[in-house]
This record gives sequence, C-alpha cells and structure tokens, in this order.
Amino acid sequence: MAQRDIVLDTTPVKVLNDLAADLAAYIKQLDEDTYIQHEDGMPQVPESADKNKKPVPEEVMKLPVEKSVLKTVKPAGKAGPKSGAAGAEMAALAEEIRKCRKCQLGNSRLNAVVGVGAPDAKVVFVGEGPGFQEDHKGEPFVGRSGQLLDKILDTVLGLKREDVYIANIVKCHPMSNPENPEAHGNDRPPTIDEISACRPYLDRQLLLIKPRCIVTLGSVATKVLLGVTQGISFMRGRWHDYPVELFGPGHPIKVMPTYHPAALLRNPNLKRDTWEDMKMLKAFLEQNA
Ligand code: URA
Repeated sequence: MAQRDIVLDTTPVKVLNDLAADLAAYIKQLDEDTYIQHEDGMPQVPESADKNKKPVPEEVMKLPVEKSVLKTVKPAGKAGPKSGAAGAEMAALAEEIRKCRKCQLGNSRLNAVVGVGAPDAKVVFVGEGPGFQEDHKGEPFVGRSGQLLDKILDTVLGLKREDVYIANIVKCHPMSNPENPEAHGNDRPPTIDEISACRPYLDRQLLLIKPRCIVTLGSVATKVLLGVTQGISFMRGRWHDYPVELFGPGHPIKVMPTYHPAALLRNPNLKRDTWEDMKMLKAFLEQNA
C-alpha cells in the first residue's frame, strides 16, 4: 500500500483556531474550578487566589455518611407530604443546625442557612455554602446566583423555589475575616474541616425529604457528594448514583451535576449546557412523578 504523506495544516487560520480552542478550554476549566461568592457587585476572586483555600482532598470527597446519622434518623416513608413526626424531625434538625458550633463558622455567622423549600420535594438542589446575602437573610441562594437559579427553575422546569428544596454543603457563611461579617467581599470557600463537620446535616435532610434526585451546583458540591475528583464539565450532563445508600441497597438517589449559577453569571456560554441538564431533570421528574 502506498504510504500517504501526512500534511500538517499550519496555516495562520488553523493555528489561530487551535489557539482559540485551547483558550476556550482553559476558560471553561477556570469556570468549573472557580468559586464565585461575590454576588454583591464586588470583585470576584478565583479560588486559586484565596490564600485560605485548601483543595478539597479525596478523603473528604469520599467522606461516608456518619453511621450515627443513619441510626438517629429513620428514613421517611414513601415520598409525599411529611407526616407530623417527619415534620417535627425536620424542625428539630433545623434547630440543631441553628445552634451548631461544630466548626469555627458557627462563631462568625449571622444566621445558619438550613435550607428552603418543600419538605417532600422530589428534587434537592445543593450549592457550596452561603454567602453574604444568605448569611444576612438565613436563606440559601438569595443573591444574584439565587435569582438566576429561580429563573432557571421557572423557565425550564416550570417550578418555584417552594416546589423544590435548596440547601448547601456547609450551612454557615465561610468568611475570610470572621471579625467582620458586615464586610462585602468577605467570602472564602469552606475548608475541609468545615465540610466534614457539616456534611452529616445534609444527609439527615436528605433522609427526611426523601427526594428522587439531587442537582449538585458546581464543582465543589459535585466532588463532595459524589466522591469524585473530576470537574463539573466532565461530570455534568448525565445521571450518577449518590454513593450513600440512604434508602437501602438498590435505591440510589440519582444525581445530576450542573454548573453553579455564579459560573453562568460569569460565563453565559455555560447556559446552554445548563439548559440541557435541566431538560434532563425535567424529563426525569416527569417519569418519576
Ligand atoms: N452560592 C452557594 O453555593 N450557595 C448559596 O446559598 C449562595 C451562593
């Protein structure tokens, strides 16, 4: 067989196209690895620029639910309005979270941000942690990302925040300067210890809500809940099984990772993928009504 000559396309247009593709991939990577808490018009600080930031190590991503959590909270019955007992357990859990001092965040927060929405929601959205606005209002996703999340819920899913449940990996606002909770731009990502201390609360919430599925918003929530190291652009767009079998073997909660709304605010090009993810969620909810 005649050997073919390999012709390399080194025209300026090709070289420029390759450069543009590399740059786009680099920006996408930044978006998935960057946490943006500054929703009040303050400059946004990439994770790598935060001196307090420690990468979430694998042992925390693989953190199993505490055995005690599974013992103390009985799984709710089948999905539906919460019985009096489950409602009382939700209220007791919320009270426990509001009094929590398991980590240093408990000393600086203005309000613990327990979660909001339907106690029998079919889907739970999980973010990373509260920011300034959330700390002040005691409610998750009330800043600019929250407004975008509401819009996504409404336009793609036809739902209001009262129809779903919205929570975070950590319940209190991680501040760069805990002495000054009134300062804007005083945000940092949660540390490993803070994530470890708070993580059992989320599993207890899930046990009580008994959702059909979870949507993780952004890389950190995805890595922590799924115990993976891959970034969000790799994980999004398909269903995963929540590794903690809260409802017994063979009944995994399905998890759809998608971009954090703050990433969409920074890079509107990510909206198209997010819309696709939400359409998959919509189809899932319709099938599992
Ligand atoms: N970002 C989050 O991850 N959670 C919030 O509640 C607000 C902003």
